[in-house]
Order: sequence, then structure tokens, then C-alpha cells
Amino acid sequence: MSTPNQHASMTIRHIDADLSKGFPIYWNNNDAYRSQLLNAMSFMFPVGEQFFIDSVRHFSKQVEAQGQVELAKEIKLFAGQEATHRHVHQQYNDHLISLGYAPWVEGVLKRMMHRTRNFPPITKLAVTVAYEHFTAILGDGLLRHASWSEGMTPNMRAIWLWHAAEESEHKAVALDTYNAVGGGYLRRMALFLLISVEFAIFANVQMALMLHKDGQLFKLKTWGSALRFWLGREGILWHTAPHWFAFLKPNFHPWQHDNRDLLARWQQADTAAYRPLNNTPTRHPA
Ligand SMILES: [Fe+2]
Ligand SMILES: [Fe+2]
Repeated sequence: MSTPNQHASMTIRHIDADLSKGFPIYWNNNDAYRSQLLNAMSFMFPVGEQFFIDSVRHFSKQVEAQGQVELAKEIKLFAGQEATHRHVHQQYNDHLISLGYAPWVEGVLKRMMHRTRNFPPITKLAVTVAYEHFTAILGDGLLRHASWSEGMTPNMRAIWLWHAAEESEHKAVALDTYNAVGGGYLRRMALFLLISVEFAIFANVQMALMLHKDGQLFKLKTWGSALRFWLGREGILWHTAPHWFAFLKPNFHPWQHDNRDLLARWQQADTAAYRPLNNTPTRHPA
């Protein structure tokens, strides 16, 4: 298994974006489709990210016992970053709920997790590896393509770029853990294909419910925006496809795609938006 050594360092940050006063529902470019797609994903985060933390942390003692002290440290930082994401997205979601939007997907995820609670821990970790690849792809896109975040309200832009950056920083932790504890290729593939379908269905159904509530689901304007967002210049499909296929390689590793330049750019541009809570160097300092 080749593991490139150009990892980024990881920092747990407090984000100074106050959501207690709420935000306009079409905060993203004043655009129903673009706003509700990300709002729908936000509804998946608090439950999903707790699952990610639990599934990776389950193996931290084993990793430590194998003498992989640095990876064990990274698992702690991973958990710290995901925990702060959960906290902020819960505030975010509380506002959506106060506006009358139902978190359908949250209930579905909770029921699925309950039904699969006795699945082998390595399978749960493979689920996390798959989701972490998607959050890494989307994080990279948000940091890379200015058009993806243009027109967001400043608060929401700060939150989404912060989340994007930390997803990039810790993009290898779940897979490194999976490989360290003997996770295999077939399981990784099977869960990735399954999660690819699941993630698409969950995000789109939640978004459709929200657009329906707004009376925007059957508007041409909504789907014109969707077409531009997916298939236009810097469209999300063109960005996602090569990364999706890269995951299929048996020796895939997230840092084969080195995007530390994007992290450095974000760190320089957005320092006012966050406060670092740790400066623990990891085994792969940027
Ligand atoms: Fe996250
Ligand atoms: Fe993550």
C-alpha cells in the first residue's frame, strides 16, 4: 500500500461564525437549488459525523497497540474536527427546523444505524472511508473553484470553507486506519458503490422535500440552476468524476491528490474566521 508522505497537518479550530441569529434560507447566491442542496447535506452531518467518529475511534487502541502512535494521534484530531463540525451544523440545522423544514434524512440515518448496529466494526469503518472520500471531493471543489462559493453570505461561506478545509486535512485518517487494521479492497469497493448510491438518494430526496415546501421544486429556474451547477463550466460533475474513479484503484490513497496549496490559500485568506484550538504537529507536516 503506497502512502504518499505529503499529508497536511491537522488543526482543530473554533469557527467564529455566529448562527444564533439565523440566516436567509437562500444564502447561497440567492439561489433555491444551490442553497437547498447544501442545506440538505447539512441535515446529514450531525448524525453522520458522530458515526464517523465512533467507527474510526473504535480502532484507536488497536492502532496504538500496533505501535502506530502517530496515526492514533491523528484519530484524536479527526474526532476533534468532526465534533466541532457536528456542533456548528446542529446550530445550522436548528435554524432550518425553526423555519419549518423537516430533517427527514436524519431520521432515516438514525434508523439505518440502529438496524446495522451489530455489523462488523470494519464494515462500519468502510462506510466512513466511503463518505470521507465524498466529503474530501466536495471540500476540494469548494476550496478550488471560486464559482462554487461566490455569492454565499459571508457567515455561511466561512462555515462551508472551514468545513471543506478540515475535510481535506483529515481526508486520509479513516482510510489509513482501515488499512492499518487489515481492511480489504473488496469490502472498500462494495461499501463505496453502495454509499455512492445512498448519498445521492439521501441528499436529493431531502433537497426535493425542501424545494417542495418552498414551492420551487417544479420551477424551470430551479432546474436551470441545477444544470449549470452540475454541467456548466466548473460543474460539480466534471470535478467529481475523476476523483470518484480514482477511489476504485486498489492502491488508492487520498494524498495521491495533493491539494495542500488550496489549504494554504484558505489559511491565508480566512484567518479572521477561525481560532486554532490545537497546533499539534502530525507525522506529515505541511
Ligand atoms: Fe466534517
Ligand atoms: Fe470528515
